[in-house]
Amino acid sequence: MENIEKLKGQVVEDINKAKDIKSLEDIRVAVLGKKGSITELMKGLASLSVEEKKEMGKNLNLLKTEVEAVLETKKSELEEAELNAKLNNERIDVTLPIRPETQGRIHPVSKIYEEVVSIFGQMGFAVAEGPDIEDTFHNFTALNMPDNHPARQMHDTFYLPKEKNGSQDMDDSYVIRTHTSPVQIRTMQKQQPPIRIIAPGRTYRSDYDATHTPMFHQVEGLVIDKNITMAHLKGCLYDFVKTFFELDEIPVRYRPSFFPFTEPSAEMDIGCLKTKSEIKIGAGNDWLEILGCGMVHPNVLRAGGIDPEVYQGFAFGVGMDRLAMLKYGIPDLRTFFESDVRWLKNYGFAPLDESSMTNGLSNNGGQTR
Ligand code: DAH
Repeated sequence: MENIEKLKGQVVEDINKAKDIKSLEDIRVAVLGKKGSITELMKGLASLSVEEKKEMGKNLNLLKTEVEAVLETKKSELEEAELNAKLNNERIDVTLPIRPETQGRIHPVSKIYEEVVSIFGQMGFAVAEGPDIEDTFHNFTALNMPDNHPARQMHDTFYLPKEKNGSQDMDDSYVIRTHTSPVQIRTMQKQQPPIRIIAPGRTYRSDYDATHTPMFHQVEGLVIDKNITMAHLKGCLYDFVKTFFELDEIPVRYRPSFFPFTEPSAEMDIGCLKTKSEIKIGAGNDWLEILGCGMVHPNVLRAGGIDPEVYQGFAFGVGMDRLAMLKYGIPDLRTFFESDVRWLKNYGFAPLDESSMTNGLSNNGGQTR
């Protein structure tokens, strides 16, 4: 009995001294394992008399239960201590700065794309799309530019090789679209008025200098309904340029022009101040051409399957790269498409600064760039 008390005192002392789960487990094995001290004592019961066995067995069982209980308590204590240490080490310091600034940048054309879509989106325009490889019917004929129309040459068109079937029909040939206007026709063919769409996308012409590249971006606009007039066109485009350049007011003027697909046709200018080194939009006595527009020609409505006696509409076409150059002061268009990361780092936009009418279009006029 004395021995048992002694053993118990020793074991409990060892348990209390254990520093971690591993050493506690070692103690458990040394005491209760197959060759543990208590286990050995239990094995020794066999050689005792019945009376002794009864007494000793009872005491040993008691000892075992008590040791197990002490082990269990210590184990939970150690586990809790370990968890607390872990939580302490892995604590997140919410006052630390956010992750390092992202490396990627949004291209100015993508930025303009988002801005244009959010402005017209809020005016109730949907975004329409058409193919880059376009047939000459949609690119020219349906837009009131029949075969041999001089405007076809003006477009410096990239024609695709003719189909092998040798068809002589001009409308069977393909071009990479010279403008986004064919999306007008595709939309009319699919949808009856009222129509209110913009069609942003890539366009192609054989041209190359500081303000022209073989691939560039346009956004087309088309509104068709009953009783649409030039006043609607003017109101819509005024709102667009004002919002786009983030100004409270902007001087605008319309000059008569010619496009085969509109009658009358006009070009819209915005007021600006031109100095040797920069163009300031919205002030001064100079004018800058910004877009082409007009009332949709009756022949175009007819080609799209819409009765011009019932419906009228207006259309416009804007160069998106040019908008980017003007708004963000980028001097040479060719640099847009050279894929130079140094250029993109300078002129690109932070990926998470999404353009929207509620959060701000360019986020403080490009200050986040
Ligand atoms: N498609 C014309 C171009 O590429 C731009 C344009 C002008 C589109 C007037 C229009 C418009 O819809 O009404 O030069």
